[in-house]
Amino acid sequence: MLKVLISGGSGLKGIIAVKGSKNLATKAIIATLLTSESCILHNVPLIGDVEILLEILRKSGSEIDYESTSTIILNTKNVREALKISHFASLIRVSVLLSGPLLVRTGRASFPFPGGCNIGHRPIDFHLNYLKSAGAKIEYSGNQMIASAEGLKGCSIELPYPSVTATEHIILTAVLAKGETNISNYSKTPETGELIKMLRSMGAKINLADDQISIQGVEELHGVEFTVMPDRNEAITFSAAAIACRSDLQINNFPVDQSASFFGLLDNLGVRYLISETSVSFFSDNKLYKPFFIESGPYPELETDWIPLIAVLLNSCNGAGLIHERVFENRLDFMQQLSRLGMKIRIGKNCPRNSECAFNRNYFHTASISGNQTLTGTELHVPDLRGGAALILAALSARGDSVMYDEGIIGRGYESFYSRLQSVGARIRILES
Ligand code: EPU
Repeated sequence: MLKVLISGGSGLKGIIAVKGSKNLATKAIIATLLTSESCILHNVPLIGDVEILLEILRKSGSEIDYESTSTIILNTKNVREALKISHFASLIRVSVLLSGPLLVRTGRASFPFPGGCNIGHRPIDFHLNYLKSAGAKIEYSGNQMIASAEGLKGCSIELPYPSVTATEHIILTAVLAKGETNISNYSKTPETGELIKMLRSMGAKINLADDQISIQGVEELHGVEFTVMPDRNEAITFSAAAIACRSDLQINNFPVDQSASFFGLLDNLGVRYLISETSVSFFSDNKLYKPFFIESGPYPELETDWIPLIAVLLNSCNGAGLIHERVFENRLDFMQQLSRLGMKIRIGKNCPRNSECAFNRNYFHTASISGNQTLTGTELHVPDLRGGAALILAALSARGDSVMYDEGIIGRGYESFYSRLQSVGARIRILES
């Protein structure tokens, strides 16, 4: 357990660069299971989720070499033992995506219910339904699911929701299944688009139309050299830090073109920023911004991962703003801790403005936040990745000291988060590690 002292009240200053995307790098690593040739991946972030995934691949017989801290060479030709993924797989959400590719490779995959951030129930029914439609048999033994198949076949899937990992799982499996697979109501996130680019470079036949992805299975794929795009969630995290702490901060490697909904929000608020190619600069000012209403939704709508970070910004507004989380039912749980820091938050179950939402009246998924409160340091616990990052930003913008307890959750998704914030002036000290 990390114990971290965060002394708030001073701005950040300098230049910080965004690392590679967690939610693409992990899928790109899984894609290397689809070929027996070597693959080179650049701009891979050094984070816990990547380390766990690489350990699963190593234990299953893959060769993994680091050419530099962010470039890895992977060769999975000797992967044979799907059962070894069990213990580690329960730690990370993305492990569910191993099952389809392993099934195509070895005819059998045994996996536990996947872990990941505690932000909702996060069922995997879309994944299992697809595997069954593609011809897999799924049995349950204790908390293990055992999938087996003698060759998977193409099928047509309409996802009940444009799930990111379900879309990616189907693509990662269908590229080597027999025949054609069609997916409608699919995820259009930039990371999914980049994964498709990587698979096409490996020889996959994937056709993208606005309403459907069509995949023609091929016999084999070949090796690839691929660069992971910068992490949008990290870019928005540093942006929110700059705004909440009234800072002069330049953020390099910013995936500007893929973050349009965030810039739209900043324009509504009246935040001053400057985009120069792949850098975004924020400037210190003491202005109170215009309060706003936001709701999360599938891309290109506002990302659910940004909701906690944007919630902190509502304290820099002159009035009450409203947040409506529509993707993960427990996403707003971390807000109890924001209240302890002094933010004025009223959590509710009723959807605002007749918005379409599955959580109406059932979950605390809306928050009304009155801005311009004085925040004061307190004791905090990292509840989940983005909620934890939001609490760190809020603590940095508060008066006095906060002590943050972190069971390694921040390091699962952000590379060297505390030390990189220190490098731009954040007063953070690791008390115990
Ligand atoms: N859903 C189902 N059944 C399924 C799959 C999803 O009901 O089989 C529901 C979920 O419960 C949720 C909605 O569909 O209500 C959307 O979930 P989605 O599947 O899109 O989320 P995910 O694929 O589990 C990924 C990212 C998350 C990010 C979400 C939404 C990865 C490994 N994770 O999760 O990232 O929040 O998409 O954009 O790609 C993070 O990085 O902190 C993180 C949580």
